[in-house]
Amino acid sequence: MHSVSMGGASYVIGVSMFLLLTSFVSLADVPFSSFNPTDVHLIDCGSPDDTLLDDGRTFKSDPQSASYLSTDENILTSITSFPDNSLTFSSVVSSLPLYLTARIFTHDSIYLFPILKPGRHWIRLHFYPLPHQSYNLTSATFTVTADDIVLLHGFSVKNRDKTVFKEYLVNVTSDKITLKFSPMKNSFAFVNAIEVVSSPKELISNSASAISPIGDFNGLDGYALEVSYRLNVGGPIVTPKNDTLWRTWLQDDQFMKFPQGARNVSVPTNLIRYPNGGATPLIAPYWVYATADQMADSGVRDPNFNLTWEMNVDPSFSYLIRLHFCDIVSTGLNELYFNVYINGMTGVSNLDLSTLTSGLSIPYYKDFVLNASHISNGSISIQVGPSSNLQASVPNAILNGLEVMKMSNSAGSLDGLFSADGTYRGMKSGLNEKMKAAAGIGLALGGFSLVLLAVMILIRLKRTPKGYTKQKTFSSWFLPLNPKQCSFLSSKSKSTTFSSIISIGQNLGRFFTLNELREATKNFDEKAIIGVGGFGKVFLGELDDGTKVAIKRGNPSSSQGINEFQTEIQLLSKLRHRHLVSLIGYCDEQSEMILVYEYMAYGPLRDHLYGSNIPPLSWRQRLEICIGSARGLHYLHTGSTQGIIHRDVKTTNILLDENFVAKVSDFGLSKAGPASLDQTHVSTAVKGSFGYLDPEYFRRQQLTEKSDVYSFGVVLFEVLCARPALDPALPREQVNLAEWAKQENAKGAIGKIIDPTIAGTMSKDSLLKFVEAAEKCLAEHGEDRPSMGDVLWHLEYALQLQGINSETSDRENEAKIGENAEKVEKNTGAKEEMIVDISDDSGLVVGSPMFLESFHGR
Ligand SMILES: *[C@@H]1O[C@H](CO)[C@@H](O)[C@H](O)[C@H]1NC(C)=O
Ligand SMILES: *[C@@H]1O[C@H](CO)[C@@H](O)[C@H](O)[C@H]1NC(C)=O
Ligand SMILES: *[C@@H]1O[C@H](CO)[C@@H](O)[C@H](O)[C@H]1NC(C)=O
Ligand SMILES: *[C@@H]1O[C@H](CO)[C@@H](O)[C@H](O)[C@H]1NC(C)=O
Ligand SMILES: *[C@@H]1O[C@H](CO)[C@@H](O)[C@H](O)[C@H]1NC(C)=O
Ligand SMILES: *[C@@H]1O[C@H](CO)[C@@H](O)[C@H](O)[C@H]1NC(C)=O
Ligand SMILES: *[C@@H]1O[C@H](CO)[C@@H](O)[C@H](O)[C@H]1NC(C)=O
Repeated sequence: MHSVSMGGASYVIGVSMFLLLTSFVSLADVPFSSFNPTDVHLIDCGSPDDTLLDDGRTFKSDPQSASYLSTDENILTSITSFPDNSLTFSSVVSSLPLYLTARIFTHDSIYLFPILKPGRHWIRLHFYPLPHQSYNLTSATFTVTADDIVLLHGFSVKNRDKTVFKEYLVNVTSDKITLKFSPMKNSFAFVNAIEVVSSPKELISNSASAISPIGDFNGLDGYALEVSYRLNVGGPIVTPKNDTLWRTWLQDDQFMKFPQGARNVSVPTNLIRYPNGGATPLIAPYWVYATADQMADSGVRDPNFNLTWEMNVDPSFSYLIRLHFCDIVSTGLNELYFNVYINGMTGVSNLDLSTLTSGLSIPYYKDFVLNASHISNGSISIQVGPSSNLQASVPNAILNGLEVMKMSNSAGSLDGLFSADGTYRGMKSGLNEKMKAAAGIGLALGGFSLVLLAVMILIRLKRTPKGYTKQKTFSSWFLPLNPKQCSFLSSKSKSTTFSSIISIGQNLGRFFTLNELREATKNFDEKAIIGVGGFGKVFLGELDDGTKVAIKRGNPSSSQGINEFQTEIQLLSKLRHRHLVSLIGYCDEQSEMILVYEYMAYGPLRDHLYGSNIPPLSWRQRLEICIGSARGLHYLHTGSTQGIIHRDVKTTNILLDENFVAKVSDFGLSKAGPASLDQTHVSTAVKGSFGYLDPEYFRRQQLTEKSDVYSFGVVLFEVLCARPALDPALPREQVNLAEWAKQENAKGAIGKIIDPTIAGTMSKDSLLKFVEAAEKCLAEHGEDRPSMGDVLWHLEYALQLQGINSETSDRENEAKIGENAEKVEKNTGAKEEMIVDISDDSGLVVGSPMFLESFHGR
């Protein structure tokens, strides 16, 4: 399912780590060619006095910097409380004084810093959730933007034991930079200290080497960067005091795989000679190049392994990786040859430092761009290992320093897919993961998905920030269902609370107290989790009377979750249908957002098809389930005045109750259909799940009911073939189920791909009818696809055909056959009538026995 986007690889320095610094901090001055930044804005937020750090920098007090700050309302609070043991570490850690005060923003607040010289600037933000009587800083959730770049989205600092330090490089193009702190609804923002400082032009060049395929990457200037990791390999921490640009270089030990294979080396810093072109002390200081890790026992035995560093990153971003080398291990030229790998792909083969730098102990660095598509498991791995094909050398490999920088995405964000104006610019993150998994296997993708990918990439490329057509913001998606609801639905009003949302839903059923739900789930026991979604987790609970329920608990820090949650409430409070999962009640105590649903005992349809030990469903059961879900979708499309598009039809969103009755669930992404007749589509950012996505929706980003029909076609083939919609492990032509099934069917070979457990049990006519329906659903153009009502008709017909030809002799089945035979007479060729039939079944189910059953006694 979809997951909330990762908070990014935060650059977290444990307070405990600060303690380690004691031994390295000395008061002697550092001789280096220093950089004199044009713009320097340093603020110790909330502090009544200026703060002088032992690296020589003075941070301005809050009163001194007040002129930079503007807020809509002047509700500001500064904090001057101290962590209990603050005195212990404040005396040893250079930047710690900055963390002792903070400023709280209860409303959108802007720092406007004048910039004398445009170009890349460092933005460094310091966060530590100090204790405070009236504000609980660990619960603050907020977004930070710098001009049109999103630095942090829905960010919070949950851990009282750590300070969080974030460092960015942002290109400032005008004479000022706007740093904006925006609290999420019902929350507030805070910051302990801010740095905005010019960075030297030569620090990051416009080009780097692309990994896989190896080539040039040009255009780095167009990206904002966030430092994810900066390591002084084989050496101690380098603090801002010892760095030319007030950077911090951490030790590499915790990222090293198999540390036994590595040995650290160091030379006196005065042996390091910077070259005339290339690396300079600004690129990295002496301390970085004077230490390295090399292979343990090099030259003694015959080492044949790689030194490996592995760092966790947010896999939805591309990264700029800078490796620092300096041959401080060789005794002569041309002794050291080694290979450099990034995520298992060759970065440089046979790197020969002494030739590149014409000497020893001469710094050298190389930049690589690693595309998000090559980060499949959420980590970046850097490896160096001896070249095997050159016997001349002593087998060895070294690394002196390592920097990993996140590159901004097409939304102009370094954290998630919302752009600075609040527009959601991506697909559901679950989709992204799948897309990446698919892209990770590169050309193994089926032609169809490849086209999809290409199309999507084209769409993304075309979206230069300025030429981008303004889209509806996420929160304005909830088109009012009646005019009274407009106020909350259409505005981004800060006063909107979950309770105000709840109060407008009339059909939300029973109110549960938080305690009741805690009891029902054994205090939200992790063991009771039966699902996870964009909004949070789903627990299985048992009410006092023994009724089992599914409890969906919203995660307040996920704004995407909140929005999906709202959509779901909006829709479910309007919709009641036997084939839609129904809502029993809710809880909004203590700013919780909890919905309680009927429990679907048999879980997602997918689990009954493949990937679990559940006994396979019969063909008849499958048909009935498909018919049930088709009814649910048909009702969504036609049952309410506006028409609703589900947008995420897939086998995990079709749930089964204990009688195998199928119900459509998860309306988190759903969208009200076109409001008026002259408008036949809704234009929107592409959402949905890879493998089920309507290619037309993908291309044109226009949403119609026919997109659901397409996805449903994929579901039908999934039911028939019992395999996932996308399976990258399969041979290329089989990866994409929709494509493969269409091909096989065109060859007349559909029989070959049917789930073997049912292949012999189905009547040929039933199968043909079913495949015909599925195939029609997958038509390239929406207008060629049938409506959900037509699909339903086909499926009903397929069921009847199965009934007639069924060879089974058991009595129950015979009875059913009789029943169906009648139906066939009644309905054959009478499509209109059939649909009338459907709508009988599909009207609002309020008061129907099924509804009452699931709603009463609770
Ligand atoms: C920082 O610089 C001083 C000399 O100015 C030096 O003694 C100290 O070892 C340096 N620290 C590190 C971590 O290299
Ligand atoms: C502060 O908020 C966090 C997270 O919301 C919560 O876990 C913690 O218990 C709260 N602390 C206090 C003192 O209220
Ligand atoms: C910053 O942006 C300007 C204008 O877009 C561009 O000309 C310049 O090359 C950029 N500079 C850097 C260092 O990215
Ligand atoms: C270098 O290695 C030695 C022995 O393994 C270790 O004690 C020392 O702390 C290391 N030095 C650094 C700076 O990592
Ligand atoms: C080093 O790593 C690369 C890439 O992961 C791999 O291809 C190579 O076989 C490794 N070398 C050794 C000696 O293990
Ligand atoms: C990553 O690769 C995709 C597809 O090749 C491309 O569209 C995108 O621009 C790349 N991103 C970066 C930062 O290079
Ligand atoms: C990621 O994959 C690489 C190789 O593909 C593996 O060595 C590494 O352990 C994996 N990392 C995680 C965190 O699973």
